[in-house]
Amino acid sequence: MKGIILAGGSGSRLYPITKVYSKQLALLYDKPLIYYPLSILMLGGIKEILIISDSDTIPLYKKLFGSGKNLGMKMNYAVQKAPNGIAEAFIIGEKFIGKDDVTLILGDNIFYGYLDFLYKAFESHKYATVFAYRVNDPERYGIIEFDKKNRAISIEEKPTNPKSNYAVPGIYIYDNNVVKISKNLKPSKRGELEITDVNKEYLKQKKLFVQKIGRGIAWLDTGTPHALLQAANFFGVIDERQGLKVGCIEEISCRKGFVDKKQFKKIISDMPKCSYRSYLENVLKEI
Ligand code: DAU
Repeated sequence: MKGIILAGGSGSRLYPITKVYSKQLALLYDKPLIYYPLSILMLGGIKEILIISDSDTIPLYKKLFGSGKNLGMKMNYAVQKAPNGIAEAFIIGEKFIGKDDVTLILGDNIFYGYLDFLYKAFESHKYATVFAYRVNDPERYGIIEFDKKNRAISIEEKPTNPKSNYAVPGIYIYDNNVVKISKNLKPSKRGELEITDVNKEYLKQKKLFVQKIGRGIAWLDTGTPHALLQAANFFGVIDERQGLKVGCIEEISCRKGFVDKKQFKKIISDMPKCSYRSYLENVLKEI
C-alpha cells in the first residue's frame, strides 16, 4: 500500500497565509498541519508517500521532510500545476503508484481517536473503501445516502438538498484501478476532477465499501482561521492533560520501528533545543 497526501489547492479561506505557501504548512498547535495526516498514514504502516502540491510549496515540503530516510520512510514529491481536482492526484501519481494499491489523504483532514478500523482497512481492503461521518453541515461535503440495510446507494458532491448527514471524510483507500478510473473522468461543472465521481464509479461497479465512523472519533475541520484555532485548542488540551503529542511523526517512526534507537537519538540531536525536542527526549527515556 502506498500513500498520497494531496496538499495544494487555492486555500483562499486562509488568506493571507496561503499567499506564500499552501495551507497544509500552516501551524496547527505545535507543528505544521500536514504532520497530522502524515502521521495517520505512518500509524497504518505506510512508508512510501507522495506529497502533491503547487510549485511554490513543493520546495518547502522537500525542506521539511527531505528523502524521508531519517524517519525510515521514502518521501516523494510532485507538482500539481493548478487545483484541477482531488482525483487528479491519481493521474499525477500514476508512476509512483505503479502496480500497488493506494490510500489518499487530504493534507488538511485531521482524525483523532481509536483509528484501528482505518489501519485494518489499509491492510485488508478490497476494491475501494471510504468512510462516512455524521456532520451538521452536509451541504459542504461529499454525502452518502444509505438504504434501510445500511448499504450505500448514492453519493453526491456538496448537495443543495442533502439526502443524509453522512459526509465522506478525506481519506480514501483504493485498488490500482483508481488510476484508470481517474483518467476517464470528465471535469465537473466547477471544472474539477471530482473524487466523488471516482467513488460513484466504484459504487456503480458495486465495488465501493462504505464504513460508518462512530462518534468516538473526531474528524476536525481546518478550513477557516476559526476552525484551525478550535483544532489547535483541541490538541493543546490533550497535550497538556496527558503529556502526549498527537501527530508527532518522529515519535511514531520510533514506536513503529521505522527507525532504531540510534537513529532516533540522531533525529533528536539534530533538533534545536525546544519543547518538541524535550518531549522526544522523554520518549527516548521511555522506550
Ligand atoms: O474534506 C472532505 C471533503 O473533501 C469531501 O467530503 C468532498 O467530497 C471532497 O470534494 C473534498 O471537499 P472540499 O470542498 O473540502 O475540497 P477542497 O477543494 O477544499 O480540497 C480539499 C483539500 O485538497 C484542500 O486542502 C486542498 C487540496 N486540493 C484540492 C483540490 C481540488 C489540492 O491540493 N488540489 C486540488 O486540485
